[in-house]
Amino acid sequence: MNYDNPRLILDSSNPPEPGGITWRSPSNIAIIKYWGKYGVQLPQNPSLSLTLAAACTDTRLEYEMRENTGGIELDFFFHQQPNEAFDAKIKTYLESLVPVFPFLEQLKFTIYSGNSFPHSAGIASSASAMSALALGLCSLEDLLFGTLKEPEAFDQKASWLARLGSGSACRSIFPHAAVWGESRFVPGSSNEFAVPVGDRLHELFKDFHDDILIVSADEKAVSSRDGHALMEANPYAATRYEQARTRMGTLLDAMQAGDLETFGKIAEDEALTLHALMMCSNPSYILMQPGTLAIIDRVRAWRAETGHPVYFTLDAGPNVHLLYPGEIVAEVRGFIEEELTEFCENGHYLQDWVGEGPEEL
Ligand code: DP6
Repeated sequence: MNYDNPRLILDSSNPPEPGGITWRSPSNIAIIKYWGKYGVQLPQNPSLSLTLAAACTDTRLEYEMRENTGGIELDFFFHQQPNEAFDAKIKTYLESLVPVFPFLEQLKFTIYSGNSFPHSAGIASSASAMSALALGLCSLEDLLFGTLKEPEAFDQKASWLARLGSGSACRSIFPHAAVWGESRFVPGSSNEFAVPVGDRLHELFKDFHDDILIVSADEKAVSSRDGHALMEANPYAATRYEQARTRMGTLLDAMQAGDLETFGKIAEDEALTLHALMMCSNPSYILMQPGTLAIIDRVRAWRAETGHPVYFTLDAGPNVHLLYPGEIVAEVRGFIEEELTEFCENGHYLQDWVGEGPEEL
C-alpha cells in the first residue's frame, strides 16, 4: 500500500477559500488485543474491536492558504487551550504525511480538539483523537481535489492514516466492529488498515454495552508504546501471536451466531492474557490494581449466580470494561451501583455502547 501522491499540490494562482472540517470519532474496545508491533505501526497479530459511541473526540481542522511553503504550520487547541505536547505530536505526524498529502506544506492549520470524556478519566484517547484527525485529512483531500469520492476508498485511506497515528485508531473508522491485521478468516484484511466486520455480526452486538469502571484515572506507569516494545523480548510472544490468529476464527463465528458464552470467554481470556504478558515482560510490570481484581471476582460470581451474560475486558490499564447485551441493562446497572462502584475512584464509571462509527459534523 503506497499512498504517496505528488499530484496533491494546490495551484497557488487559484488558492482555495479558507475553510474548516469537523469530525466526531469514537473510541473502541478490543476483544482480541493488538499487543506487539513491528515496522511502521504494523501489528504482530490481527485484532478485533467493538466501536464505541459515547467516548469520542471532536476535531475541527481549519485551513487557509499560506504564502511560504516548507514544514507544517499548525496551532493546536485542546479544549480551547493551547497544548504544546499535543501540538508537537500532531506536527510530527503531519510532517510524516507530507509525501501522502504534499498540500499540507501549502496551508496553515488551526486544529481544535476535545473529548466527550473527562481528560482525567483514565480513558485512552489516542484511538478517537487520531481517527478524527485522519478523517479530517481525508475530507480535506476530497474537498480540495475531489479524489476520495468513493466511500470505501475514503474509509480505507482514513483507517490507514489513523493507524500511523496510533495502531488501535484504525479500527475506530467503522461502525459496530472492525478487524485490523491479516487474518485467514477475514477476506480483504490487512496489516495496514482495518476492515469492517459488516454483516457477519449478529444483531445482538449492535445493541451492546460497555460500561467502564474507573478503578484509577491516573496516567499509566508504562505507556502502550513501551508495552508493545517489551513484547519483542517476551518469551511467550510467538505463542501469543499464534493464539490471537487462531481464535479470530472462533470469535468471528461466535459473533455471527450471537454466541455470547464463547464471545465472553474469549474477551476475558484476552484481557487476562494481555496483563499476563505485561507481568512476564522484562522488566515486568503490573497495571491491574486490587480494585481491578475485586471487580473481576464479583463479575464472575454475579454471572454464576444470575446467569446473566456479562463479561469483562481490560485495556492496558486498571479500569474494567463490562460487556453485555442491551436487554439486561437495568440489571447490570443495579449490580454496578450495588457491588462495583465501591472499587471505583470516586464511585465513577462511564456508560458506553456499540455505535455507528464516526460522523462528519
Ligand atoms: C491494549 O493503539 O494505543 O489497547 O499503536 O503504540 O498507539 P500504539 O498503541 P495503541 O495500543 C492499544 C493496545 C490495547 C489493545 C488494543 O486496543 O487492541
